[in-house]
Amino acid sequence: MAARGGFSNKLGFIAAAAGSAVGLGNIWQFPYVTGQNGGAAFLLVYIGWIFLIGLPIMVGEIAVGRKAQSNPYGAYKKLGGKSWAYVGLFGIICGVMILSFYNVVAGWAFGYFLELSFGNLLNEQDYSGFFSAYVADFRDNLFFSIAFMVITAYIVYRGVQKGIEGTSKVLMPTLFLILIFIIIYGLTLPNAMDGVSFYLLPDFSLINGRTIYTALGQAFFSLSLGMGALITYGSYISRNDNIVNSAILVTIADTAVAFLAGLMIFPLVFSQGQSPAEGPGLVFVALLGVFQTMGPLIGKIVGGGFFLLLCFAALTSTISLLEVPVAFLVDEKKWSRKKAVSVMALLIFLIGLPSMLGFGAVGAFTEFVSYEGGVKSFMDVVQDLFFVISLPLGGFLLSVFISSKWKTAGLSEEISHGNPSYGGSFIEKFFNLMIVYVCPVVLGAMFLLTVLQKFFGVELI
Ligand code: TRP
Repeated sequence: MAARGGFSNKLGFIAAAAGSAVGLGNIWQFPYVTGQNGGAAFLLVYIGWIFLIGLPIMVGEIAVGRKAQSNPYGAYKKLGGKSWAYVGLFGIICGVMILSFYNVVAGWAFGYFLELSFGNLLNEQDYSGFFSAYVADFRDNLFFSIAFMVITAYIVYRGVQKGIEGTSKVLMPTLFLILIFIIIYGLTLPNAMDGVSFYLLPDFSLINGRTIYTALGQAFFSLSLGMGALITYGSYISRNDNIVNSAILVTIADTAVAFLAGLMIFPLVFSQGQSPAEGPGLVFVALLGVFQTMGPLIGKIVGGGFFLLLCFAALTSTISLLEVPVAFLVDEKKWSRKKAVSVMALLIFLIGLPSMLGFGAVGAFTEFVSYEGGVKSFMDVVQDLFFVISLPLGGFLLSVFISSKWKTAGLSEEISHGNPSYGGSFIEKFFNLMIVYVCPVVLGAMFLLTVLQKFFGVELI
């Protein structure tokens, strides 16, 4: 294990795994998806999925990683043989593809942070126009996404303990403080309580099939499940650590940050009479109008703080996404960490270029193909293929792998290290029930439903 590196202790793992989980998914995506899907009712469904499906899959991933002491490809190969190894490999490829567009959005956040804190962003008249022009501007985006990738690569190059763990231990608490600060500020604004009611008083008539599976997809993305990121991080923890406790803490931290991000954003949005259903532009457009009304100084502090928060959250996630293919190359191909990081960072950056250019800079990537639901940009296609449909598929395959190949006895045996009272406990029965029956059915159904809806326009529920 020493040769591969590892976290210094349980806290180090929790910080890093929570860092992986907490990201753009929580602060950018969760509020806008919640805003589009009815607010409080969506939140409840989301929390249900997190604990019913997300937590057992998370425990399963960490256990597989720790048992095999390997990256996802190596882990499936060791425990399941050659054909299962392809499942691990597919997960690694998904991670590469996810990072390719994630880094582009992280670059926007970085650019907005600089423009807001040190530039004239708060003097703009039309934030929607500004955002469209901003994402279409090739030069700025190129610069910021290179910068973000270089910082990510440097941290991953420094290694599991010094780089990943060290960075997460500093950034996670800072992120939490900024979040609390903005929430308190937002709640003092006029009409803030309308935002709180939208967010916390459920209207169950808004729940339908689409809300239910959108919430599940969001839960998977937010917890970093389904492609082996937590198999990789799990391979860096000690046999003496209690996997179940750690996973519960990571899940709670991730859910708390998503929840708090909503509590930060909706009062701000309602205080200015903006629509919560604005979509992906919610934080880049609607919030800007809010920061502007705060006046030049407070606007810069709160707005700058917000985008810094977004950058920190994104960074601890991009490092986890880069670590997966790096661990693969180091374990399987015996590359040095330096070579693996440099080659992968460059490759992923190049794969991300068409995503970056697909917001108006290059027509062919902006209107890349069209299938059900309209004309899709390159980034839409990458998201549909490698995240929307693949993460639930990855979770499905992991649960099938555990129940049919590794067996729940293997899972229990591994979890019992560091958790001697696990065998025979209620929580063991709960996890086994979920992994053997509920996860395969729910995730398998979700995979089919999403494929039908995304590519064939068929909406069954
Ligand atoms: N969970 C992160 C977020 O919420 C994104 C992320 C990082 C991720 N690593 C992942 C998503 C692995 C899926 C798989 O922003």
